[in-house]
Amino acid sequence: MSDPSYPLAVTNTRSIRLFPAAAEPASGLSGQSVQGTPRRQAILLTGAGGEVGHGLIHRLSEAGSTPIVAFDLRPLDDALAARCHAVFTGDIRDPFALAPILARYELTEVYHLAALLSSTGERNPELAHEVNTQGTVNLLRLCAQQAEATGRPVKFIYPSSIAVYGLPSEAEKRRAGAVLEDQYLNPITMYGVNKLCCEHLGRYYAEHYRLLTRGDAPAPIDFRCVRYPGLISPHTAPSGGTSDYGPLMLHAAAKGQEGVCFVEPEARLPFMLMADAIDATIALAQAENVSRRVYNVASFAPSASEIAAAITMHFPAFKVRYDIHPGRARIVSSWPADVDRSAAAEDLGVPTHREFGRVLAESLVPAVRGMYGQ
Ligand SMILES: NC(=O)c1ccc[n+]([C@@H]2O[C@H](COP(=O)([O-])OP(=O)(O)OC[C@H]3O[C@@H](n4cnc5c(N)ncnc54)[C@H](O)[C@@H]3O)[C@@H](O)[C@H]2O)c1
Repeated sequence: MSDPSYPLAVTNTRSIRLFPAAAEPASGLSGQSVQGTPRRQAILLTGAGGEVGHGLIHRLSEAGSTPIVAFDLRPLDDALAARCHAVFTGDIRDPFALAPILARYELTEVYHLAALLSSTGERNPELAHEVNTQGTVNLLRLCAQQAEATGRPVKFIYPSSIAVYGLPSEAEKRRAGAVLEDQYLNPITMYGVNKLCCEHLGRYYAEHYRLLTRGDAPAPIDFRCVRYPGLISPHTAPSGGTSDYGPLMLHAAAKGQEGVCFVEPEARLPFMLMADAIDATIALAQAENVSRRVYNVASFAPSASEIAAAITMHFPAFKVRYDIHPGRARIVSSWPADVDRSAAAEDLGVPTHREFGRVLAESLVPAVRGMYGQ
């Protein structure tokens, strides 16, 4: 585990921070809590303080009137917290940390982001399993209980990853090209195993939950999953993911530093701008009809050397050193060179392609220059 502050055992530290809006008389009430106090409808984000959480909270708080409830292991920064109705701090592995949220709010939508990412998870696989899989079951179970009590299913938005794929060899990776949602599902990392397992758990709660005893009751969870490629954000230098080599080169260039790339120059993965991933996630949540539970999304699929060359066009002094990490390179070689995203285009209207050089020039480079004062 690279983060010494991460609790290895389930932590019982829980706290709630309510913001002024939370003290207002509740409107849009949908039921009573067990204590008889009214419950307010809310959107829950777990892992709210992470990279994706930042983007989603900004977009959801600008777009809608439904209060946002945030949950994370660590407190949110003040600016982000101010966009939320309430912030709960606790461990997703601990069902008792989640229960107070369900006691207070009726959740209409859940964005379940809390997770350990691929490289971090591979350094402590059992911990990753507890956080990524058991944490998801804890949340699905509580949402199912709420749905059974209210008769209304909970929309559960789940970000999965290209880590669910497992291509057996470089030759097969080249042959496969852009893979469909249901191909090559043999992940080689604990993170990928966890993500694939949670995709199936979501399908179970949405289609087959309590098959023997549920009778005619509707399924409790409207499970929708977006499979992200590597995400590139100009605002934060990533850590803990295996596709980080791309965004790390960009941030190093903008800081005037040498880039260190831990995969071979020819290594190729699909990527997407963080803002586009947020758009796709919201499109999935808002779609009237979905024809499948899991959607691939991506915008471009450059090799590591193509990323480096494109960055050098904007930062001519930028140099890359290839310091190959065999384990991380092996993981990247098991992930597809590209994903087929025609289903997301048809059902959700998510664009299938953007030109990497253009995205770099128009969005990423101006933003990182601003961030590092270059
Ligand atoms: N960033 C990417 O490139 C990428 C790619 C594919 C999928 N995803 C998925 O998107 C989701 C969000 O990713 P991100 O990039 O924001 O990750 P991140 O690491 O930036 O954020 C994860 C958040 O989860 C919180 N968390 C971790 N353990 C927790 C626990 N036990 N209890 C409560 N909270 C906990 C962390 O404190 C952090 O704020 C994750 O599910 C991730 O697997 C991300």
